[in-house]
Amino acid sequence: MKKSQWIIEKNYIIAQTEPRLFGSFIEHLGRAVYTGIYEPGHPTADEQGFRTDTLELVRQLNVPIIRYPGGNFVSGYRWTDGIGPVKDRPKRLDLAWKSIETNEIGIDEFVDWCKKANSEVMAAVNLGTGTPADASQLVEYCNHPAGSYWSDLRRKYGHEAPHNIKVWCLGNEMDGPWQICTLTAAEYGKKALETAKMMRWVDPSIQLVACGSSGTGMPTFPEWDRIILEFLYEQVDFISLHSYYGYDDSDNHGDFLASFVDMDNFIHTIAATVDYVKAKTRSKKNVYLSFDEWNVWAHRNETFKTWDYAQPRLEQVYNLLDALVFGGLICSLVNHADRIKIACLAQLINAIAPIVTQPGGSVLKQTIFYPFQQVSQYGRGQVLKPIITAPKFESKKYGDVPVLQSTTVYQEEKEAINIFILNCDQGDDVEVTFDFRSFGKVTLLEHVVLNGPDLSAVNSFEAPETVKPHNQPVNSQPAAQQQVVLPKLSWNLLRFSTRTDSGI
Ligand code: AHR
Repeated sequence: MKKSQWIIEKNYIIAQTEPRLFGSFIEHLGRAVYTGIYEPGHPTADEQGFRTDTLELVRQLNVPIIRYPGGNFVSGYRWTDGIGPVKDRPKRLDLAWKSIETNEIGIDEFVDWCKKANSEVMAAVNLGTGTPADASQLVEYCNHPAGSYWSDLRRKYGHEAPHNIKVWCLGNEMDGPWQICTLTAAEYGKKALETAKMMRWVDPSIQLVACGSSGTGMPTFPEWDRIILEFLYEQVDFISLHSYYGYDDSDNHGDFLASFVDMDNFIHTIAATVDYVKAKTRSKKNVYLSFDEWNVWAHRNETFKTWDYAQPRLEQVYNLLDALVFGGLICSLVNHADRIKIACLAQLINAIAPIVTQPGGSVLKQTIFYPFQQVSQYGRGQVLKPIITAPKFESKKYGDVPVLQSTTVYQEEKEAINIFILNCDQGDDVEVTFDFRSFGKVTLLEHVVLNGPDLSAVNSFEAPETVKPHNQPVNSQPAAQQQVVLPKLSWNLLRFSTRTDSGI
C-alpha cells in the first residue's frame, strides 16, 4: 500500500467559494431543451410544458447559475424569434448544430424555468451574426422596468417585472473557425467593447464576461486573451475559459486521469494574462475567471447529416473512468476559488450531460452526476491549502503527476471539513494520514467512495444504479490525526466534524 501525509491548517485559506462556481449550461442543442427541460404532453410536464422529473434532478445538483442559450448556437441566434405568442414564432435552420429551431422556448420561458430550478440565468449575446444594438435591446427587454419599446413588449408578453439578469457573456468562442462569423482578436475586441458599452448604458448593474480562448489547443492561445483584454479590461468583470477532456487510448488512462494538470495550467496561464493586462493598463480593478464550459467529452468530431428537431446530439454516455476524471477536474476549479468566480458544467441535460431523459419516459443520473452533486453540496466554504506529500505517477503528457488530486473545504458554521480526493493510482490503494493540528480532535463522519471493478461501467435506463457512490465503514474515534485508506482508482468524499460530540 502506498502512503501519503497531509497537514491541514485552519488558516491556510485559498478563498471562499462563490455559489456560482457550481453553475451549469443549457444550449439549444439536440435534446437539451426540447424533450430535456421542455416536453408538453410528458406525464410529468407542468402547466408550461416543463418536465418536473428533470427539474427535480436539476434541483438535486443545486446549480445556482445556468448559461443560456449557447454555445455555438448563440452566434446565429435572433433572440426576437423566441418572444411573443409561440404559434407566431418562426422555425429557423440552426447552422451550428444542423437542427430545426422551433423557438418554442425563448428567454422568457427560460427565465421561468430557471426560477423553478432555483437558478439564475447567465445570458449569452450573439456576437457572430448579432450586432451591438441587438444585444443592448435584449438587455432592455430583460432588465429595463417599463416605459420603453422593448421593456413594454416584455410586459405585454406576460412578464410585468424585469428579469434582472445580472451576468452576460459577450459572445461564445469567437476565436473558433467553427463559430458562425468567427472574428480575429482585434475584431472581437472592438465589437465586444462597443457592445459592452451599449449594454451597460441600458443597465449599469450588469456583469460582463469577455470571450477568452476557446481552448489551449487554439493557435491563437493565449495571445487572443491578451489582445481582447487590452480592449476590454475596464469594461468586463470576467474572462471565459472553456475546456473539455477526452480519453486518448494511447495513454493507458494515465494522461486522461491527469487531465486536471492541463486544467490547472490553463487557469494559471489565463490568470497570469489577466495580471499582465491589469499591470499594463494600470488598472485598479480585478477581472475574474469564468470557466463557463468544462467537462469530460470524447467524440468531439461528430457530424450531422439531416436537419433535425430534438434529435440526439453529443449524447455521451459517461462511464466510471469519466466520473473519476471529472472529479479531478472539479477539484481544480474549487482549488482556484480565488480566481474563478463562475464555472459552468457543460452541459446539464442530454448533450454531454449528467442528466439524461427519455422522450415520454424517465430520467437517468449518469456517472458524472455524483461527483458534481457531492462537490456542489459539500464543497462550498473556505477552500484550504493542505501541505501534501504523496507518491507520483509518470504520465506521457504531463511528466510526474501526484497520484492524489484533491480539494479541502472548511465549513466553519457547520463545523465541518470536507475533503474530496481522486486516487489515480492504477495499482495500489493509498493510506492517507491527516494531521489536523489547529483543529484539535476531529471525527470522521463519512467516507463515500465511487469506484468499481470495471472502469467502462455505465448507468442505463435498464440498470440505472450500476455506478453510484457507496459508504465505506469508518473509524469514528475523535483524534487530531486520522488515517484513511483510499482504494486504487477511486473518487472519495471524506466528511470530518470539528465538533467532538459530532453528529452533522
Ligand atoms: O458544449 C458544446 C459546445 O462546445 C458549445 O456549443 C461550444 O461553445 C463548445 O465548443
